[in-house]
Amino acid sequence: MAPVRLLFVGDVVGSPGRRLLERLLPQLRERYSFDFTVVNGENAAGGLGITEKIARGWLDGLGVDAITLGNHAYRHSDVYDFLDRDSRIVRPANYPKGNPGQGYTVVERDDRRLAVVNLSGTVFLDAARSPFAEIDAILSDLSGRAVHVLVDFHAEATSEKVAMGWYLDGRVTACVGTHTHVPTADARVLPGGTAYITDAGMTGPRGGVIGVERDLAIRRFVTQMPVKFETSGDDPWLNGVVIEAGADGRATSIEQVIVK
Ligand SMILES: [Fe+2]
Ligand SMILES: [Fe+2]
Repeated sequence: MAPVRLLFVGDVVGSPGRRLLERLLPQLRERYSFDFTVVNGENAAGGLGITEKIARGWLDGLGVDAITLGNHAYRHSDVYDFLDRDSRIVRPANYPKGNPGQGYTVVERDDRRLAVVNLSGTVFLDAARSPFAEIDAILSDLSGRAVHVLVDFHAEATSEKVAMGWYLDGRVTACVGTHTHVPTADARVLPGGTAYITDAGMTGPRGGVIGVERDLAIRRFVTQMPVKFETSGDDPWLNGVVIEAGADGRATSIEQVIVK
């Protein structure tokens, strides 16, 4: 198995995020020449969830190898069949077993294989099972099928994400946090060879409040009344990480990608 370089893109938010992804991906591919592209799409459709059309566009049109999701995975029911049919899109593995879709997959490109796992945190988020027990079961199931493993840990609490990073150190190539939409400054390769970041951030409007039009979000906090949220289009940035790993599956570097 050859060394691997991959791009992971944080939660793409609405049409401003999608447009930026479409525009920047070819440039980033040229600059970093990564083998795999994995994109979190849990906010792709109008800020919440993803549709089959968007997912297909990324996978078949943009050259994205795998899509991960999160707590908004099931927002649009039109995607449920697609989640069952297409193995290149994954939803949190520790959701109820009968739910649409799968929680992990193995994608191939040239002579390389990458396992992609999606997990949900349990602090301030609902999941059916512990993500720690879940990843143990997945890794034993995957054994021999892929040397390189990327985990998208979709979680709210930094403590749960840091704990997962240490729990997986030396057992996966990368453990990347998502969901908070704000990139953290702690990207590093842990001593056992796992690339880690608490949150990759979002690909969306920095002029809003984690993707929402800022006046609406502020009004909700100020008035404590229900306010219908709209996706902000103000000042979109792409947030992600580029991870390199050796043939043995251990990460050698993780670099943040933060592009206006
Ligand atoms: Fe998100
Ligand atoms: Fe989320």
